[in-house]
Amino acid sequence: MKTYRTRIFRIDENNLEEAIAEAAAIIKEGGTVAFPTETVYGLGADALNPEAVKAIFQAKGRPADNPLIVHVSSKEQCESLVKNISDKAVLLMNIFWPGPLTLIMERKQVVPDITTGGLDTVALRMPDNKVAMELIKCSGKAIAAPSANRSGKPSPTTAEHVISDLDGRIDVVIDGGPVIVGVESTVIDMTTEPPAILRPGMVSQQDIENEIGSVDIGYDDKVHPDNKEVRSPGMKYTHYSPDANVILVEGNNENVTKKISQMFSDFQMRGAKIGLLLTEESAKHFVSKEIFSLGRKDKPEETASSLFFGLRYMDEKKVDVILVDGSFSHLGVGAAVSNRIRKAAEMIIKV
Ligand code: TXA
Ligand code: MG
Repeated sequence: MKTYRTRIFRIDENNLEEAIAEAAAIIKEGGTVAFPTETVYGLGADALNPEAVKAIFQAKGRPADNPLIVHVSSKEQCESLVKNISDKAVLLMNIFWPGPLTLIMERKQVVPDITTGGLDTVALRMPDNKVAMELIKCSGKAIAAPSANRSGKPSPTTAEHVISDLDGRIDVVIDGGPVIVGVESTVIDMTTEPPAILRPGMVSQQDIENEIGSVDIGYDDKVHPDNKEVRSPGMKYTHYSPDANVILVEGNNENVTKKISQMFSDFQMRGAKIGLLLTEESAKHFVSKEIFSLGRKDKPEETASSLFFGLRYMDEKKVDVILVDGSFSHLGVGAAVSNRIRKAAEMIIKV
C-alpha cells in the first residue's frame, strides 16, 4: 500500500473557495479527497477514472465487489451516467435532491466496472452540503464516494474520525465540521417494479411512498456473509463495528433501563470496562464515567446524529463492552438507526 502525506483543509467562510479549488484539482488529477456530506463523511475520487477509484478501495480496504455511490451536482450529470431515468425516479429526484436519497439505475458504459463492482447498475446521489456540491462542480467530475471509514468501522461523522481511520492513506481531508444527519443515505433500487429500498436512511419508506406509491423492502437487519443472492453487495459485509462488543437491549424505556442496570452490575463484578449508550431518559438512572447520550428517546434525529459518534467514543475509551439502550423511537430515521445498531450488535436482547 502506497503511503500518503495526508493534508487537512479546515474550512471557514474565508478560505472556502480556495480550499475547494485545491481539492478539486486533486480530484481532477486522480487523487482521493475526504469531504463532508449531510449524512456522513465520504471518501471521494473521479468516478470515471478507474485508477482513482482503485485508490478508494485500497485506502478503505474495501472488498472489490462492493460498489460505490456516485455523487452528482446536476440532473444533466446524472443523465450522462445512466441509460434511462424512469418517471418515478424523476419524481424522487425532484422532491429529495439534493438530499440523503441514493437511486440505483442502469449504468451507461462510461461508468467503469470498478466503480459499480462489476454490476450493470450505478448508485447516484446529489448531496445536500455546500462543500460537497462545490467540490463536484469545481472539479467538473462525478465523484465516487463511499463513507470515509476503514471497511467494517462505523461511518465517520467528523473529520477527526476520518483522520483516525485514513491518515496516511489518502491525499486530503476537508474538515467542514460535524455532519447533520449522522447515518448514511437511503438507497433505493429503481430498476425493479415496484422499486425496492435496499438501505433505510433519513428519507423514510413513508416519505417515498407518499411520492411514488408502494415500494418493496429489500433489506433486513442481518449480515449475510456467504449469500451471493443479496440485492446489494454491501449486505454481505460486517459494518459499523467498534472494537468493543455491542449488546443492544430493546423494549420500552422502563424495562430497558432495568435490564441494562442489571447487566451493568454483572459486568462490573466480572471486572469488565463498560460503556453505556443511553437515551436521555435512561441516562438519569446511571452513575458511570463512560456514558454517551443518544438524545431524547422520541427524537430519532438526535439518536441518528449521535450513534456512530458514540460507538467511536467508546472505542477511544477502550471499553470491553457497550450496552446500548434500544428504547429510542424507530419511526422515521429511527428505522435507519435501529438497522445500523442491530447490524453492529453481537447480541440483541428484547425485554
Ligand atoms: O450517505 C451516504 O450514502 C454516504 C455518503 C458519503 O454519500 N455514502 C455511503 O456509501 O454510505 P457506502 O459505499 O458506504 O455505501 C453504499 C451502499 C453499499 O452498501 C453498496 O453495496 C450499495 O450502497 N450500492 C452501491 N451501488 C450499488 C448498486 N449498483 N447496486 C446495489 N447496491 C449498491
Ligand atoms: Mg459505508
